[in-house]
Amino acid sequence: MRLDKLVAHAAQRSRSDARAAIRRGVVCVDGAVCRAPDEQVDRNATVSLEGKPLCTSPYVYLMLDKPKGVVSASTDQNEVTVVSLVRGDYPRRSLFPAGRLDKTSTGFVLITDDGAFAHSILAPKRHVPKTYEVLLDTPLTAEMIEGFAAGVRLADGSVMRPAGLAPGAGGPCSARVVLQQGVYHQIKRMFGVYGAGVNELRRTAIGGLVLDETLGPGGFRPLSPEEVARVAARCEDTP
Ligand code: URA
Repeated sequence: MRLDKLVAHAAQRSRSDARAAIRRGVVCVDGAVCRAPDEQVDRNATVSLEGKPLCTSPYVYLMLDKPKGVVSASTDQNEVTVVSLVRGDYPRRSLFPAGRLDKTSTGFVLITDDGAFAHSILAPKRHVPKTYEVLLDTPLTAEMIEGFAAGVRLADGSVMRPAGLAPGAGGPCSARVVLQQGVYHQIKRMFGVYGAGVNELRRTAIGGLVLDETLGPGGFRPLSPEEVARVAARCEDTP
């Protein structure tokens, strides 16, 4: 693809803006400044604009730090949605969240317009690991850790897949949970079996990709091609 077309597409700028940026010397291809708008760029090249890597894929992949009170949806009549937080930068894209977080939960939401990619993360057979930092209303116990490892039976009788549970860094009530499935309110319901309430829940990683804590609540950035590939690599079928 031509460099000016690629920059315009990836940075959501007009073709003339992209050309001006290229001529200013703020666009690099594989680490070297390129001032030729008509340069043909390989689809696997790393392209950056003003030092920030651009996603050269035809699709958009964003890492968002969801704040509390925002719903994991594309649109909603009454609520602020995760997609509305990024819409200004991507006005013409059919974006949606690849996976949900409760309205009261915070942290990593992956937003994309690549349906096949989202499916590979969300398909129950894929078991893509997701990491959560949790603050309970009671101290973590060995019984909870053993129960999570064995597979918790929820109040409705369904048995969850084994999940990782370990003490967190924030004192006796803090915990780190690693899930490989996504059942509605899963973590809250799993702790509920032990009479524990969840006061705070924050997703910090998806498929080996760790949330960039410098983004801050409501902050977002495109994933680099390497980051997209890292998540995709975790999306292979497992028994
Ligand atoms: N489990 C929950 O209970 N809530 C979330 O938002 C995510 C996992």
